[in-house]
Amino acid sequence: MLARTFLNIFVFVLAVVGIYAYVGQLVPQFEEHPPKTRTITAETDRDELSDIGQELLRGKGGCLVCHKDSETGNTRGPDLRQSAAVAANRKPGLDAEAYLLESLIDPGAFVVPNYPNMMPSALKPPANLTPAEVKAVVAYLQVLGGAEPTAVVTVEDIEQSKRVAKGDHRGRALMDQHSCTACHKVEGEGGEGGIAPDLTEAGGRFEPEAILRKLNDPAAWVTPGFEAGIMPSFDEAPPGDLHEIVAYLSGLAGKSYSPTGATSPWSHEGVRLGLVIFIANGLMLGALAWARWREKRGAAR
Ligand code: HEC
Ligand code: HEC
Repeated sequence: MLARTFLNIFVFVLAVVGIYAYVGQLVPQFEEHPPKTRTITAETDRDELSDIGQELLRGKGGCLVCHKDSETGNTRGPDLRQSAAVAANRKPGLDAEAYLLESLIDPGAFVVPNYPNMMPSALKPPANLTPAEVKAVVAYLQVLGGAEPTAVVTVEDIEQSKRVAKGDHRGRALMDQHSCTACHKVEGEGGEGGIAPDLTEAGGRFEPEAILRKLNDPAAWVTPGFEAGIMPSFDEAPPGDLHEIVAYLSGLAGKSYSPTGATSPWSHEGVRLGLVIFIANGLMLGALAWARWREKRGAAR
C-alpha cells in the first residue's frame, strides 16, 4: 500500500515537473538579446572603424548582393577590391576618401562605365546605414585598397546618426500614420500650427503607462497652456501601434519600454508564470492529501 502511494506521488511529481518545463518553454523570452553590435563613437580608432566597416559591408549593408570584397560576392557592381584601389583617381578633384563617401551616399553622382546606375544610397533602404556607419565602410574600403584609412567619425556624424536611428523607429512612422504629427511636433518635425505640445521630451516627463493612458483617454490630463478636447482618443487604434509609439517617445528620453502588451496584468509573463506555479503547487498538495486519505482508508479496512 505504502509503495503504491509513493509510486503515485512519484508519478505526480514527474507530471508537475513536466508541466513546469513545458510552461517554461511556452513563456516567451521577455528580454530581447539583439546580436551584439559594436557602437561607433567619435573616439573609435581607425583599425576598429575599418573592422566595423567590414562587418557592415558584409552584413547590414547588404553590399555583397551586388559586389565582392573577396572571392565571394556578386558582380552586378564592380569588384570593390579594384574600386578601392582606383578610388583616388576616379574623379578629378576627389581624393579616395571623398570619392568613396560620395559613391556610397550619392551613387548616381558618378556611374562607373559599363555598369547600370542601380545602386541605392547606403543611407536609404535597404541598407539604411547611419552617417557614422557609412564612414566606417569608407574606412574599410580604404584598407581594402591598400591605403591607410583617413575616414574619421566626427561628433556631428554621431549626432546625425542618433537622429537617423530614432527617425527609423517604427513608432515615429506610426505617429505620422495616426496623424499625431499633424498636431504635435516631435524631434523638430510636424505640429506646424503649434496647437499641441512638442512631444520630443514627453517621454522624460511621463512614464510610458501614463502616455498610453493619455492616448486611450485624452481627458486623463490636459497639458497646461493648451486647449482641452482637441486631442482625439486612440482607443480604437491597434494597441500594438500605440505601444510602439509609446516605446518610441520613451526611447527619446532614454527609457526602454517593452511594447509587448504590458497594460493588462494577465498578459504579463511573470504573473502568468506565478499563477501556473501556484496552481501546480495546489494540485500537488491536493494529491498528497488524497494519498494520505487513501492510506488512512486502507488502514481502516
Ligand atoms: C543593387 C546592387 C548594389 C548594391 C546593393 C550596392 N551596390 Fe555599390 N554599386 C553597384 C553598381 C552597379 C555600381 C556601379 C555603377 C555606379 O557607379 O553607380 C556600384 C558602385 C559602387 C562603388 C563605386 C565603385 C567604383 O569602382 O568606383 C562603391 C565604392 C560601391 N558601389 C560600394 C557599395 C557598398 C559599400 C554597398 C553597400 C552599402 C553597395 N555598394 C551596395 C551596385 C550596388
Ligand atoms: C487633433 C490634434 C491632435 C492629435 C491628432 C493628437 N494630439 Fe496629442 N494633444 C493634442 C493637444 C491639443 C494636446 C494638449 C491638450 C491636452 O492635453 O489634451 C495634446 C496632448 C498630448 C500629450 C500630453 C503632452 C504633455 O506634455 O502633457 C501627449 C503625450 C499626446 N498628446 C500624444 C499624442 C499622440 C501619441 C498622438 C497620436 C497617436 C496624438 N497626441 C494625437 C492634440 C492632438
